Amino acid sequence: MRIDIITVVPGLLEGPFSHSILKRAEDKGLAMVRVHNLREYAVGKHKQVDDYAFGGGAGMVMMVEPIAKCIDALKAEREYDEVIYMTPDGQTFDQHMANSLSLKGNIIILCGHYKGVDERIRQKYITKEISIGDFVLSGGELAAAVVADAVIRLIPGVLNDETSALTDSFQDGLLAPPVYTRPADYEGMKVPDILLSGHNEKIDAWRFEESVRRTQERRPDLLKGKGLVSGD
Ligand code: ADE
Repeated sequence: MRIDIITVVPGLLEGPFSHSILKRAEDKGLAMVRVHNLREYAVGKHKQVDDYAFGGGAGMVMMVEPIAKCIDALKAEREYDEVIYMTPDGQTFDQHMANSLSLKGNIIILCGHYKGVDERIRQKYITKEISIGDFVLSGGELAAAVVADAVIRLIPGVLNDETSALTDSFQDGLLAPPVYTRPADYEGMKVPDILLSGHNEKIDAWRFEESVRRTQERRPDLLKGKGLVSGD
């Protein structure tokens, strides 16, 4: 998978992809992330990428031409399955969306800044608009990094333990159960006996029950219609 991220603040995306799992995905050739500085596609001698909004009002708007030039240049190189725009008025990102994006080949992610992009970019190029939650960030870069991380770790071969993404919170619509490691007794706080029993079936059953219990306590909305709790 290849992810091309378009931004006016490339520095914000320098860190996340050069560490840990995302770096390993790149090293293994499973995911490639390239960051493009929109200013390199700016027009005119002032290398302008934003301008005042027609109709007035505070805040600048990202101009059509630099973005169009950048996306056209990328599309001339290869086919893209999605051109995503990160924006607080997009569809809320969730594990289901991460799963479906992880099956794509190449995607472009455009990061909004200032008051956002000229509407005509959204009309002409954007195939999907994503928000990472009901709050406003100062730009789409950190949101793009969140989406890229959630998607890349799902690509087969990226995680060492192939099954571990399957047992994440949300993967089966439930929150993950509690986990423990050594010591088995920390200041009198003991690891549940069942986890030390070596009885895999019982351990799986315990984890499932704990998942349901935790989900019911913290996110009862996730359980609706699953038939896992009484009265459902
Ligand atoms: N840009 C600013 N806020 C955002 C959000 N919540 N999600 C995605 N992109 C954004």
